[in-house]
Amino acid sequence: MMKHVLSTAAVTGISLCSACANPVITIDAAKPGAEISPTMYGIFFEDINFAADGGIYAELVKNRSFEFDRPLRGWTVLKDEGLGVRTLPMHNETNPRNPRFMRIQIDDPGSGAGLRNEGFRGMGVKQDVPCRFSIQARKVGGDISSIRVELVTTNGDVLASSTVDGLTDEWKTLKCELTPDATESKANLNLWFEGGKGLLDIDMVSLFPSDSWKGRENGMRADMVQLLADMHPGFLRFPGGCIVEGFDLSQRYQWKNTVGDIDERVVTINRWNFEFSHRPTPDYYQSFGLGFYEYFLLSEDLGAEPMPIINCGMACQFNTGELVGLDELEPYIEDALDLIEFANGATDTTWGSLRAAMGHPEPFELKMMGIGNEQWGPQYIARYLPMVKAIKEKYPDIQIIAATGSDASIFPNGEAEVEFLWKEWRRLQPEYVDEHFYRVPEWFIENTHWYDDYDRNGPKLFVGEYASQSVGVASPENRNILKTALYEAAFMTGMERNADLVRMTCYAPLFGHEEAWQWRPDMIWFDNLNAYGSVNYHVQKMFSRNPGTHMLDCELQGAPELNEHSTVLNASATLDTDAGEVIIKAVNVGDQPQTVSIKLKGVTGGPAMKVTTLSSASLDDENTIESPMKIVPEEFLADAKGPTLEYTLKPYSFTILRIPVK
Ligand code: AHR
Repeated sequence: MMKHVLSTAAVTGISLCSACANPVITIDAAKPGAEISPTMYGIFFEDINFAADGGIYAELVKNRSFEFDRPLRGWTVLKDEGLGVRTLPMHNETNPRNPRFMRIQIDDPGSGAGLRNEGFRGMGVKQDVPCRFSIQARKVGGDISSIRVELVTTNGDVLASSTVDGLTDEWKTLKCELTPDATESKANLNLWFEGGKGLLDIDMVSLFPSDSWKGRENGMRADMVQLLADMHPGFLRFPGGCIVEGFDLSQRYQWKNTVGDIDERVVTINRWNFEFSHRPTPDYYQSFGLGFYEYFLLSEDLGAEPMPIINCGMACQFNTGELVGLDELEPYIEDALDLIEFANGATDTTWGSLRAAMGHPEPFELKMMGIGNEQWGPQYIARYLPMVKAIKEKYPDIQIIAATGSDASIFPNGEAEVEFLWKEWRRLQPEYVDEHFYRVPEWFIENTHWYDDYDRNGPKLFVGEYASQSVGVASPENRNILKTALYEAAFMTGMERNADLVRMTCYAPLFGHEEAWQWRPDMIWFDNLNAYGSVNYHVQKMFSRNPGTHMLDCELQGAPELNEHSTVLNASATLDTDAGEVIIKAVNVGDQPQTVSIKLKGVTGGPAMKVTTLSSASLDDENTIESPMKIVPEEFLADAKGPTLEYTLKPYSFTILRIPVK
């Protein structure tokens, strides 16, 4: 963000109100209302669009353990023509969690016999930033004595080279470092097997850049985590999304398969591999190098409450809708209870001791859990009930998040299903009910009063997935344009005006790989070397960094109707008792500047205020990988004197004013 200190007249047009016909925002700042939840603005993480493998999880080798359905997907055999190099997928029956390894048979090494890994649409490596290479290997017989490891460009130019030796007939992990002499976004990794003929077994071939988040091994991309940290999120929802449910139950997310040693995590096909025929991604699997331990750790790093969502015995109802019988639900209930023990249990418990062994003896202080993702119908209630009963009996303080199916506008018989579930939730009183909205931009601006009339005696709201779709739900033509972000901002002012009820909100999905996405729009885009926030990200971040602590009554009068310039104004106001500031959020979606009069009742404001504003010349403008900073917030100080002041909102803008008050 740019920071300026500008004179009042120059930019903001602040002055004492001259009783003009401007819209008026009246704020009763002396009467703080309900507390705003510290979890009001959070993050939704799902491994879609290569968000985990090939994304935030920094591993550069794809299919490192040869466990994809096609064992050599991502790999190419390198050999001189006519010479004998064979690859034989082998099965280790004593290791059911990672059974496959690759046997390399060299009958005639000639001048080169090896394997190449292509990475995730290439590998992003940086000049002079060492990468840590490791491989599990054993000799089965013959003369192969070492492995030469190379990072190469697409032209075959060598960026870095090193050798591991010490091969024996026992499995061993061998390591070396590769430091590229140039930056390359599409590098490949070559393994050359040297020494002669013979047989060699290999597994868990891994390459990690050393500049990971907090320098951790098995770490995450620092640039991507930093974008999340910059948001100051209140919670982290993981691992999804539909990925919780799976296409069928065999593909559901099973957290126990994602913890412990990374070579014992059970590689599983990613359900987004084949979901969209217009975006098939046959190389999309989950290595679970980013598993539940890492999600908890990430929550802690971000200062965000962890929010796991667990499967409740139901596969995705848009896909197979497979169910477990009620008499077979026990393992699912156990998974939920064990997860709480993994997060919070003492170190002498089964799962608490695993957490400790992984490096975190202190509890993660898990407080809430979602039961199912987009589930609906009586079959959901039938599975929800025994799960929640068991959880509450053992862990009465764990707060429960219940679903309302998917976005009512898109799922079968939507409104009626939502009605059915809401009736149940009013009876069963989970702490939170999760609602999803994937709709066109106009819906967001026309529904800023969506929550005004919700029942205040029922469960609290978690708006767990929403995003304005510029073309249509999950259309591949959707873009993260300014229009979508401003219309979301308008809707968010409505959620904030109902913050007594709406306690948690998050945009979805989070990440999209420029070349490997399945769904858009997405909040953050990235390629193998760079990541940037869409304009929607900046709106989210502006809200998230300026929530305030208490609601304030905020009345907006005289806002222009939708007219030929689409001028619509929305506003909300909160109080930050720690900072002693009133925070006003205002959206102008029109093509003209809009002056508003701001009346602060019961307090004295000023003398200066902090302004953060996001705008661009056209509603179609967007940030892109080529111009990632085209639309970013500007920050400056402006005068703010008097009980009434005027502020001119730029065309197509979202603005936050922080006014010190006494
Ligand atoms: O955010 C993408 C998908 O949309 C989520 O996985 C699912 O919950 C919703 O239908």
